[in-house]
Amino acid sequence: MLIDNEKQRISAEQRRPVLRPRRLRLHPALRRMVRETTLTPDDFIYPLFVRHGHDQRIPIKSMPGQFQMTVDKLADEARQIAALGIPAVVLFGIPAHKDACGTDNYNPDGIVPTAIHAIKDAAPELIVISDMCFCEYTDHGHCGIINVPDDNEHYTPSLPVGYLLNDATLELLAQASIVHAQAGADIIAPSGMIDGMVGTIRAALDGEALEHISIMTYAAKFSSGFYGPFREAAESPPSFGDRSQYQMDPANAREALKEVAIDVAEGADMLMVKPALAYLDIISAVRQQYNLPLAAYQVSGEYAMIHAAAANGWLDLKRVALESLIGIKRAGADMIISYFAKDAVKWLEE
Ligand code: PBG
Repeated sequence: MLIDNEKQRISAEQRRPVLRPRRLRLHPALRRMVRETTLTPDDFIYPLFVRHGHDQRIPIKSMPGQFQMTVDKLADEARQIAALGIPAVVLFGIPAHKDACGTDNYNPDGIVPTAIHAIKDAAPELIVISDMCFCEYTDHGHCGIINVPDDNEHYTPSLPVGYLLNDATLELLAQASIVHAQAGADIIAPSGMIDGMVGTIRAALDGEALEHISIMTYAAKFSSGFYGPFREAAESPPSFGDRSQYQMDPANAREALKEVAIDVAEGADMLMVKPALAYLDIISAVRQQYNLPLAAYQVSGEYAMIHAAAANGWLDLKRVALESLIGIKRAGADMIISYFAKDAVKWLEE
């Protein structure tokens, strides 16, 4: 009887944990002291959709709280963003006119150059990033010139019909980057996954004495279903096929590192991985292997998904949005492009 009790005592003792990580979770202040990752306004970049017209803020249905805005609405918006302490915006333009070569992208009076002037007038301290891609400007919705017989002077019979003409597109990217930089963009962000885009844009900018303009490359951009709502927001769905001949296969991590290596070699100043949530391993791997500042894009579908679940009462909007943002930062992103940017900064202040 006595022996049995002794046995029980010893085994209870042995079960008592020596290491108790829970000690550090007991008080809110203590949790703050040991917190490894924090979000600040400096982490964010806010995307803006700009269009021609007057006095309009058109709600984007699939992205609650986001709008297409006319240029006259940008001054207020830019001041608000700057007042929140968010350092930068990235611009997406909805042009008045679309054609096979996306000519409005390199029109100095086009939508993005006009918007850049308006933002810089209202909030000169705000960094303006120009998303450099042709999909918003082409009538077919692809990110460059498409090889179509007789459609334009770029038709190349040796290349497949429907192929995105890489090198012809590079020339247009160079022109458009110069135009956006001359309008006052601080950073050009090529997002089309066109081979050679970083090197070409760097050379073009330098050739126009624009050596001070940075390049933030969408180095590893995946062909993702999470861009769905953006295509409504930017009015840029491809009219045929999809973007898989230039954007990356979601299955490939090693190839993402190859893409990054190429953009680094071509002179990129900052890197980006996109989307974010389904690609945290890529963010983490790029962070570990490269020393350049790294951005992650929490894309339209990631935003829409959280909002939709919250609208149904299935998730807590603020909690889940902040949790996904901290996850992206913890994975290794220095900057997060997010439609939640303004809300997140307000939530962090509460
Ligand atoms: C343009 C571009 C896209 C996004 C950013 N730049 C669309 C696409 O590649 O299809 C997506 C952003 C988002 O979904 O929030 N190339």
